[in-house]
This record gives sequence, C-alpha cells and structure tokens, in this order.
Amino acid sequence: KKQARKGGVTISLTQIVLVLPCQDCTICMEALAGPSGYKGPGVGGISRAESVGRLAQCGHQYHLQCLVAMYNNGNKDGSLQCPTCKTIYGVKTGNQPPGKMEYHVIPHSLPGHPDCKTIRIIYNIPPGIQGPEHPNPGKPFTARGFPRHCYLPDSEKGRKVLRLLLVAWDRRLIFSVGTSSTTGESDTVIWNEVHHKTEFGSNLTGHGYPDPGHLDNVLEELKAQGITEEEWAEK
Ligand code: APR
Ligand code: ZN
Repeated sequence: KKQARKGGVTISLTQIVLVLPCQDCTICMEALAGPSGYKGPGVGGISRAESVGRLAQCGHQYHLQCLVAMYNNGNKDGSLQCPTCKTIYGVKTGNQPPGKMEYHVIPHSLPGHPDCKTIRIIYNIPPGIQGPEHPNPGKPFTARGFPRHCYLPDSEKGRKVLRLLLVAWDRRLIFSVGTSSTTGESDTVIWNEVHHKTEFGSNLTGHGYPDPGHLDNVLEELKAQGITEEEWAEK
C-alpha cells in the first residue's frame, strides 16, 4: 500500500508490480505497462512515469502520473473520481457561490403525495464576482430567478433527501456558475447535477409533481456527487 499525496488529496492505492501488457490506461489510452502518455508538467518525486496506481476501493488502474494530472487539471477540491466507475475518493465539493438555503413545512400536499405536508426549500444567491474556481475569474456573474423555491414531500424519504441536500449545499454542489441551457446566458448561476422540483401544484416545465421516481432519482444524483446517508455510519 502506498499513499500518494499531492495538492491536498490523499489517494489510497496499491502499487502494482505486474501489469498485463494488453491493458491500457483509459486516461491517456497508452499501455499501462509502458510510460504515461501525459506530456504536461512533472508530478514531482512521487512516481516514475511508468508507475501504475490501483484505486483502493474500485480497483481500477491508471498510470500514477495520469491520475495526478487528472487531479491537477480538475478543480483540485480534495477529491478524485474514478473516470471508469465514478467512485469518489475524498470529499467532492463544487463552486457554488455564497448564498442562503432555508426550508420550512407548508400545510399542503403535493400532487402524488396526498398523505403528507410539503417541505419548501428557498435558495437565494445574489450576483457577484467570479472566484478562481469559476469559468471567468474576476468577471461578474448574474443570478436569475432567485429566490428559487423548491418542493419535497414531508415524508420519511423526502426528509432524507432534505438532509442530504443540506450536505450538498455545504459542499457547494447545488448550484454552479456557467452557461444556462434554458436561457443561453453565460456567467450566471445555474443548477448543478441535482434535480429540484420548482413547481408546487402544476407541472408546466416538467420540474413539477406528480413524479413517482423523483426522490429516488435525486438520491442517485446525490450519490453521484458522493453524498449518501450510508457514509455517515462509517465516519
Ligand atoms: N426547475 C428546476 N430545474 C430546472 C428548471 C426549472 N425551472 N429549468 C432547468 N432545470 C434543470 C435542468 O433540467 C438541468 O438539469 O436544471 C439543470 C440546468 O439547467 P439550466 O437551464 O442550465 O439551469 P438554470 O439556468 O439554473 O435554470 C433555468 O430554472 O429555477 C429556474 O429560475 C430558474 O428559469 C430558471 C430555470
Ligand atoms: Zn495513463
């Protein structure tokens, strides 16, 4: 076992001595048995170019140099995601700008959830200036449609989704800065990869109720961001 440490992420991996010559590194597409195809800046003293790293949890293998290059080309947020199976190492965080997340229960039922009340989440993010983690650092970003109101059934599963959304908010994963696919506007606050229902009693946009699969879909999307309730038991 070897720990490769670089720029804040600790990747737990196993050094492989013997590699089948037919296997390629899917980061650089070169043979694992040969040197990394990565031609960028060096990775310091941690690896010879031909070293292969095996990710500890999922077992996928890459040139060590390719793994480090992939990390350095990302947002260097202390996490690394296996490009093959998306297993997350470390804690993934995003670039959501500063703002507020609030929620309360309202005494009405959502279409498809007649037996419970409703949780309303209110997100508020003001416009601002992009930081180094954003597409155009130093440039302003706009923020349209805030406060944005979102709805969850106040059921056991709905409350679980809320707890995980609070974690996602803290990890800056609910919103991002980029180009809106709805309006085409660039340098603006946009939803990230976790879907929210923004309509209460109607479904005009497709982001409303009823939608029987919604809570399970959101749990999957949160999992893809490394957020599950299971991890709490381990930590
Ligand atoms: N409600 C919820 N999710 C939405 C909405 C909406 N009205 N519109 C788009 N999304 C989802 C999309 O399905 C996609 O997955 O957000 C993701 C990013 O889409 P963009 O259009 O890039 O996001 P954004 O510009 O933030 O959203 C557009 O959403 O809440 C409203 O006021 C907001 O009208 C704006 C719209
Ligand atoms: Zn490689």
